[in-house]
Amino acid sequence: FSSGSENKPLAGRHVIITSGPTHEPIDPVRYIANRSSGKQGCELAMAAAKLGADVTLVSGPVSIADPPGVRVVRVTTAKEMLEAVEAALPADIAIFAAAVADWRVAAPSVSKIKKSASNAPPALSLAENPDILKAIAQRSKGRPALVVGFAAETHDVLVHAKKKLKSKGADWIVANDVSPQTGIMGGDRNTVHLLTSAGVESWPEMTKADVAAKIVERAAKHLASLKR
Ligand code: CTP
Ligand code: CA
Repeated sequence: FSSGSENKPLAGRHVIITSGPTHEPIDPVRYIANRSSGKQGCELAMAAAKLGADVTLVSGPVSIADPPGVRVVRVTTAKEMLEAVEAALPADIAIFAAAVADWRVAAPSVSKIKKSASNAPPALSLAENPDILKAIAQRSKGRPALVVGFAAETHDVLVHAKKKLKSKGADWIVANDVSPQTGIMGGDRNTVHLLTSAGVESWPEMTKADVAAKIVERAAKHLASLKR
């Protein structure tokens, strides 16, 4: 047994993590969502807490249990997720692992939309959701020192991830191939690439817990290298 600051490099640091999907209502009983188990975000939260961080996990609706030792803020929609992240600031590190719905229904119905034999399917008019990662990464005041995004892609993974690193203003992008044959969606393993201003590092396949541990260790080292 050993304890001490060498094992808690994130002691005194606040880490915000977004996780899970968001649900965007169509009517009181139906919604639009992305596929996301919330496992990678949950593992990130636990890994950061293990290194001594004060962790706020902003999670959309998931069926997994809340991780211990972490402040969990439950939200439903992308707008609520952005508000919860802004309310949780300031932070030293922000990691955006949520699978945010890109669009919401512009005017959700207040009552359940009924099918009827004579009516055509309803046309849904969509509005774009706020980009939470971009909003936080591009803040002029109170930007976390390290902003990390994810890029879940089904093809041309590195091409898309490089574009996201630039367009969103993130410091790092963790990219992965989530095409169905990889089994990553909902599974316990992940194969990721870490994109930084220094280039691309491709990590071997490992558990989502190990991916999380590696990301937060790297983040702790990065913070330590910056002037406070
Ligand atoms: N993200 C976010 N808010 C959104 C959309 C995405 O915070 N409204 C974050 C995700 O949590 C992830 C990163 O942005 O960290 C990339 O998400 P992704 O869906 O891959 O990128 P998009 O810019 O939405 O592009 P597309 O879905 O078209 O690939
Ligand atoms: Ca998206």
